[in-house]
Amino acid sequence: MKNKKDKFIINGGKELHGKIVVQTSKNAVLPIISASLLADEGDVELVNCPQITDVSNMLAIMRKLNVKVSKHGKNYVLNPSQASNSKIDCRLIKSMRSSIFLLGSTLSRFKTTTISLPGGCKIGARPIDIHINSLKSLGVEVKTFGDQLFFDATHAHAGSVELKLPSVGATENLVQFACKLPGKTTIINAAREPEVVDLCHFLNAMGAKIVGAGGKKITIYGQANLKGVKYKPIGDRIVAGTIMIAVAICGGKVSLENVEPSHNKKLIEILCRIGCKIDTKNDILTISKQNSLMPFNRISTGFYPAFPTDLQSQMLALSIFLPAKNRVKEIVFENRFLIASELEKLGAEIKYLSQNEVEISAQNLAAVSLIARDLRGGASLVLASLGIKGQSEVSSVHYIDRGYESLEKMFAKLGADIKRE
Ligand code: UD1
Repeated sequence: MKNKKDKFIINGGKELHGKIVVQTSKNAVLPIISASLLADEGDVELVNCPQITDVSNMLAIMRKLNVKVSKHGKNYVLNPSQASNSKIDCRLIKSMRSSIFLLGSTLSRFKTTTISLPGGCKIGARPIDIHINSLKSLGVEVKTFGDQLFFDATHAHAGSVELKLPSVGATENLVQFACKLPGKTTIINAAREPEVVDLCHFLNAMGAKIVGAGGKKITIYGQANLKGVKYKPIGDRIVAGTIMIAVAICGGKVSLENVEPSHNKKLIEILCRIGCKIDTKNDILTISKQNSLMPFNRISTGFYPAFPTDLQSQMLALSIFLPAKNRVKEIVFENRFLIASELEKLGAEIKYLSQNEVEISAQNLAAVSLIARDLRGGASLVLASLGIKGQSEVSSVHYIDRGYESLEKMFAKLGADIKRE
């Protein structure tokens, strides 16, 4: 939700030094909260949850479904024993797309689910055909009533589902839906993202039998009963990547704890290639930059293990500090260059080579006022401002609060001059 203190004031040009414990992954925690609805007995305790608005919104929806939720420090305890059927009201969570992740668990738990898609809700603008068609192929009936979608799983059955694209959300829905469906369900062309794997680990810890997560084929053997567990989701690879790119922009040396380096393999390769030094030991990654960097020339996003779309905007921000012209291509989402016009205000020159590929260069950069328009793009404007001498402002930071736990405090801890106003 938007709050009054919706702006960061940044005096850029300072190096970053110090240590950060990376927050828990937003994209792992959200579907795991949804999947906790599948526990037939006992509490689900989620350890060290990120204090971000997407998580508080998701928990508000769980409460609407009559799941008991309590907070103990940064741990949340969820008890779904009294959960009851309810519509998933998109109006509650206008700013969050993750309501769609509730489809699999609510349908498994209640056998019917209604999702409302009011005008203006972002989820309505995104295709959900893969979610719908894959559930249909498992015998789920889907009916449309005005702006509402009604799902009925009374006659659902296990089976084989092939996804036309490895959609993260659709894979997570199917896994949640199938883990209590009698028989064997296979997902072909499944998403391979670490957050999908973490969801499957969580469900297996609850007693599910899911095999092959992280590969292109996931097999789920339906189990009758699942029980509550205490679970610590993975660290946030996108937050880790954001900080790594910030060090590449600002210089300095930062150690990140709670990182699985293999989750950021592509980013690490690129940052090392252009001149950063990166060491990893267990779950600690240390990045430093002493000298000026080389261009990365060209990157393209893709489905995991390719370069993540959620770090694409941060790479746009980095490119304005690199020599020569660099190209960034977006494969996963069409039109994800929302920050291009803001970077131009700083002095970047951005040429569209096609609708999904830009070429960026910059000569003279100057600190100015910028407006965040989305979560990752907003964080990237902060990175750009941290790298430019002088006072910048980034407003509408409620977008950033959706996914970053006090981004300004984290950078201030590393020596940046940034405050919320
Ligand atoms: C998740 C992540 C998001 C990330 C994205 C891609 C969460 C909460 N969000 O989003 O941060 O950017 O994965 O890594 O985990 N598509 C269809 N039809 C569908 C579903 C998807 O055409 O039914 C398309 C989308 O428009 C997009 C592509 O498939 O072009 C990938 O989307 P998907 O993997 O589903 O992303 P999300 O799960 O929404």
